[in-house]
Amino acid sequence: MNSDYTNGMGYAKNMDEQDVLRSYKSRFDIKENQIYMDGNSLGLSSIDAKEALDEAYEAWKNEGIQIWGTENGKYFKYSQTIAEQIAPLIHSDVDEIAVMGSITTNIHQALSTFYKPDASRYKIIVDELNFPTDIYAVKSIIALKGMNEEDVLVKIKSEDGRTLSEDAIIAAMSEEVALILLPSVLYRSSQLIDMKRVTDAAHDKGILIGWDLAHSIGAVPHDFKSLEPDFAVWCSYKYLNGGPGATAGMYINKKHFGISTGLKGWFGNKDSSQFAMDHNFDQDLTAGGLLQGTPNIFSMAPLLGSLKPFNEAGMQALRKKSLELTGYMMFLIDERLSAYGFAIGSPREDDRRGGHVALEHDEAYRISLAMRDFGVIPDYREPNVIRLAPVPLYIGYEDTYRVIESIERIMKEKIYETYALDRVTVL
Ligand SMILES: Cc1ncc(COP(=O)(O)O)c(C=O)c1O
Repeated sequence: MNSDYTNGMGYAKNMDEQDVLRSYKSRFDIKENQIYMDGNSLGLSSIDAKEALDEAYEAWKNEGIQIWGTENGKYFKYSQTIAEQIAPLIHSDVDEIAVMGSITTNIHQALSTFYKPDASRYKIIVDELNFPTDIYAVKSIIALKGMNEEDVLVKIKSEDGRTLSEDAIIAAMSEEVALILLPSVLYRSSQLIDMKRVTDAAHDKGILIGWDLAHSIGAVPHDFKSLEPDFAVWCSYKYLNGGPGATAGMYINKKHFGISTGLKGWFGNKDSSQFAMDHNFDQDLTAGGLLQGTPNIFSMAPLLGSLKPFNEAGMQALRKKSLELTGYMMFLIDERLSAYGFAIGSPREDDRRGGHVALEHDEAYRISLAMRDFGVIPDYREPNVIRLAPVPLYIGYEDTYRVIESIERIMKEKIYETYALDRVTVL
């Protein structure tokens, strides 16, 4: 953590002036008098995203059915068109990426493709802190194979309820384990797992491993050419700013090209034979073979625009600012909020933290409601976590300072006590 942080607005303003990424903010739809700290849940819309969506709409309007053939098949091969922009974020080859589905459906695709239990190797390692949908998908494949959860699932426990120990994950890698599915960054605490150590250990033991990058893609640079996971999945609506329900993505390592796709569809067919309308699936041997149906053009188009700033600024610069801002936020929490019963649920070490800070408090729910009335949009997760994401493309030092200042006022004047305790769904 940077030791030069200073508690005061002057420092924040000065840092914003020096920020080489500050111009990107003007490309986002920032509301006046609002500080949007929820980009870890749903990223903001932008001029870039709108332009790309408008362009796709115009293509449909002007071309009708011929949209599929226009611009050298750009829309027909839309997964690949977008994969070209995503590949630098994870440092993979373009043909290792399929842009499709949602995280949930892509985990189903990955498991149905890779999980081939036999009498000796059949266990699946997951963790008790993962997002529920990942676990539902794993339980589905177990049921579809006619197996029992108790026999198959190995759930890594957390010692502190916030983080996972890489040692514990590695210790669970017995000879009976066939596959591992873990999050790269934990959705609640923001812990960044040592993916390299865990992936290497899995491979040493002959285990397939896949990562859910929901909370790291666009926030943390990945180097898949060095990491070489077997597969990965991600969504595009959080840090990638692709819009609500934007089409997700999936990575499959080159070494698995040609593995028979679990859930087949006609867009996974080779281009050359797709329109032969043969009932025998002629699988595209790259990640394209994982594709299923017709690309969801309007759930994908905004991504073509929203990915531009990532490739202009570069993931290293974005990560540097993100770490500085989360570090600054934790510094301010220590300085300004320590009297009010808060705890920081995120790792302090830069190499163990993703793009958000987990602020814990018994009254987190009512505090998060009060924050909204102060123009700060946080994110609340039961039972006690406020997640705050200073997204480097559109949040600055002054914003971060104002967020903590608002929380301090809410606590000092006990403003949160004026809110009802009854839960309404807070998204
Ligand atoms: C780790 C993780 N996986 C999956 C999801 C959601 O999956 P989907 O994109 O299918 O809705 C989330 C949503 O926040 C998540 O945090």
